[in-house]
Amino acid sequence: MCGIVGAIAERNVSAILIEGLKRLEYRGYDSAGVALINTSGQLKRARRTGKVAELEGALEASPLPGSLGIAHTRWATHGVPSEANAHPHFSGDSLAVVHNGIIENHEVLRDELKALGYVFTSQTDTEVIVHLLHHKLKQFDDLADALKAAVQELHGAYGLAVISAAQPDRLLAARSGSPLVIGLGIGENFLASDPLALRQVTDRFVYLEEGDIVELRRESLQLWDSQGEPVERETVQFKDSAEAADKGQYRHYMLKEIHEQPAVVQRTLEGRLGQQQVLSSAFGAEADALFKQIKAVQIIACGTSYHAGMVARYWLEDLAKLPCQVEVASEYRYRPVVVQDSTLFITISQSGETADTLAALRMAKELNYLASLTICNVGTSSLVRESDLALLTNAGPEIGVASTKAFTTQLVGLQLLTLALAQTRGTLSAARVAELVAGLRQLPNKLEEALAMDTVVEQVSQRFAEKHHTLFLGRGTQYPVAMEGALKLKEISYIHAEAYPAGELKHGPLALVDSDMPVVTVAPNNELVEKLKSNLQEVRARGGELIVFADKQAGLHDEEGCSVIAMPHIDDILAPILYTVPLQLLSYHVAVLKGTDVDQPRNLAKSVTVE
Ligand code: G6P
Repeated sequence: MCGIVGAIAERNVSAILIEGLKRLEYRGYDSAGVALINTSGQLKRARRTGKVAELEGALEASPLPGSLGIAHTRWATHGVPSEANAHPHFSGDSLAVVHNGIIENHEVLRDELKALGYVFTSQTDTEVIVHLLHHKLKQFDDLADALKAAVQELHGAYGLAVISAAQPDRLLAARSGSPLVIGLGIGENFLASDPLALRQVTDRFVYLEEGDIVELRRESLQLWDSQGEPVERETVQFKDSAEAADKGQYRHYMLKEIHEQPAVVQRTLEGRLGQQQVLSSAFGAEADALFKQIKAVQIIACGTSYHAGMVARYWLEDLAKLPCQVEVASEYRYRPVVVQDSTLFITISQSGETADTLAALRMAKELNYLASLTICNVGTSSLVRESDLALLTNAGPEIGVASTKAFTTQLVGLQLLTLALAQTRGTLSAARVAELVAGLRQLPNKLEEALAMDTVVEQVSQRFAEKHHTLFLGRGTQYPVAMEGALKLKEISYIHAEAYPAGELKHGPLALVDSDMPVVTVAPNNELVEKLKSNLQEVRARGGELIVFADKQAGLHDEEGCSVIAMPHIDDILAPILYTVPLQLLSYHVAVLKGTDVDQPRNLAKSVTVE
């Protein structure tokens, strides 16, 4: 989704801004732009549709040097992807703004500003901000004062940055609902919507809180909180290497991230397992006391993270005997909900910044929940900062838009939570807990075994490249795994894929099954496998082609029209984590065969920070 980079320095910052935009490319966008105050004190900009490389090419052909600038990648919400709609937006020839988020009252403001004589050159909601600010500058000389007054009139979500040729010694920014972070340099300062954009220039960051406004100068910064009071915010020093976000030997980030799973799962487990039990202190010092009071669980998430929540529901009801509801954040946040007594509210998110999930958490805080817990990959994110408890998944930066290692580490985090709750509530024998803890310890090795199936999966993928529709089937915890497999395939190969609980097959989807519709099934060795075999027969009888990922002990064998791919044996409870891997590899290889943009699939964004 949209990205912001800004810089104020003594040196030319043009290349820093472009490099920052490139590092944000993974978030998904359709156009890019940059504005700088040049050496003669004039405000200049360049904008292009398509990739940042187009903008870079334009700047090579006609350079825009300057020591103060802002840059943006846009993911269209209001108005088509076009040069005119790309940011930065100008008011007159001296004021420029870039903006992430959505201004909900843009129509009213647009009419008011038009009545004041402002001429609009784009269809965006953002353009109202720059003209409104221009208007406020007639009352307030100082840019910060004018910005404070302007944001009072904005409804909706924004992370925005402003420069003015009239005040070329400062870079202004404001945050409400869309993340912004300051990067601290020596004699220079930076700004971005994601610290990843600035890792090439600094490892020291200051996160803006909701409602904050900041004025950056080369040597200093001044922050004000939502009440307009001067405020100081903590500086965070990053320790992970800036190279963590490189592709290394891999052709795509997604493939690298799939192969990182054994190592990152190991990291998720680190410090959280005792000899034979889960250390509930991993969820915070107060977790033990809190866990004793929980009578129900509500899980909220979006996309892939929602699928992790669906797996957790089976686990929590089965192992911890806790009633559990799971819902996508965009539905939950807009309906009146009934909160059961002593319910733990859980959010799951890779980024910790997904607009709907964050809004759901904020709504839940007004309701009668016992406490909030987030399972999240980004320690500095809004979800982590605003939740009572947090379990970090420690998967490292995930760049591929299609989530892979974030999902498996979320599942590991949710399994740790389930076991911690089961221990506290006494719903599992100590021996069974110890067995599952041992299973978790072996998981990195099992994941290596699953990754070793790559060549076989690659061969199977050839059968999908010419197809237009696919069905994914699973039962029990493997139903959400099938959903995640279908989501991966549609996200990156653009093949229509649907997931069904296998038992629902005959209630509709069977009508679609023929030789043009491959059916992918995940079948661990549990009590449901016999029922699944009957479902597979139903598909075969209609000429459907089956691809089955099955436990080597499940008694399923290759036959005409049915390819069985043997999976390493694993405790059934942990099977969803393992069976996800071949489905990730399958969609990856199909996408490579089809020649789609694996890491940045069309129309999608990595971090959905607007509704
Ligand atoms: C976007 C991403 C998905 C992700 C979803 C939720 O749609 O493309 O990969 O699952 O957002 O994001 P979150 O960061 O909250 O897990």
